[in-house]
Amino acid sequence: MMMSNAAPGRVIRILEDAPKLCEIVAEEFTRVAETVQRDQGVFRVALAGGSTPVALYHRLTDPVLAGRVDWRKVEVCFGDERCVPPTSTRSNFHMAKETLLDHLPIPEAGIHRIKGELNPHQAAREYQADLAALFHTSRTPQFDLILLGMGANGHVASLFPGSAALREVGCPTTAQYVETEREWRVTLTRPVLNIARRIWVLVSGVAKSAALREVLQGNWEPEVLPAQYLFDTEGEQTWWCDKDAAGLLEPDSDSSKHRLPLARLT
Ligand code: 6PG
Repeated sequence: MMMSNAAPGRVIRILEDAPKLCEIVAEEFTRVAETVQRDQGVFRVALAGGSTPVALYHRLTDPVLAGRVDWRKVEVCFGDERCVPPTSTRSNFHMAKETLLDHLPIPEAGIHRIKGELNPHQAAREYQADLAALFHTSRTPQFDLILLGMGANGHVASLFPGSAALREVGCPTTAQYVETEREWRVTLTRPVLNIARRIWVLVSGVAKSAALREVLQGNWEPEVLPAQYLFDTEGEQTWWCDKDAAGLLEPDSDSSKHRLPLARLT
């Protein structure tokens, strides 16, 4: 495991391989849930979609880990959703349901899916209203933890390069048509990501290595590499990577405001 020399609260953690990444993140997720429930009662988390978190979600259902969390006091939300029915294999909710939610004693009222089957703008409005009720605020909801994957083009959630969603800072949710994906998406917006108490970005595999290097060590161009907008996160920011994904990161790189100093071997 490699730890960064980053400023407190901003860490790159590089694990040997995808299974080890999954093992460590599952343990840390469980520890955070325990800690938040002890200190605050309810743990409010936004799950990532895509394929990277699948193994993590399976592992979280391990009885040894799952038994440490009071799932009746977990509020599960989503970072983004494809505008498809919840039964579609493209649905992030469907993936989480199959790998995690169906295997844990989470009350139905504790699962806040984005209604991909609705008109996208209606789905974004309903999700915003759901979050306002959950967080008891009409302002920006502050999650205890937001899990994110990162695309090979540097997008996170459904904040894609050059998209109008990147410039939405007045609402916690927005809908947009994503040309490259040829589909409508609903996503949390930058203010929600940046106010979260913890942001975890899960990056695995050599296919992400070029994007990860550009995001963490390249020029500051968040309109092209939206993951760079995460650097303004007020809370803890952890980039969980395996060695394949981190393979192009240069050791001892100079750090600037918008870069995370590189992880170091420990
Ligand atoms: C989605 C996700 C998206 C995903 C990245 C990485 O709806 O697809 O929210 O942001 O996390 O595209 O996807 P993979 O984990 O499949 O590489």
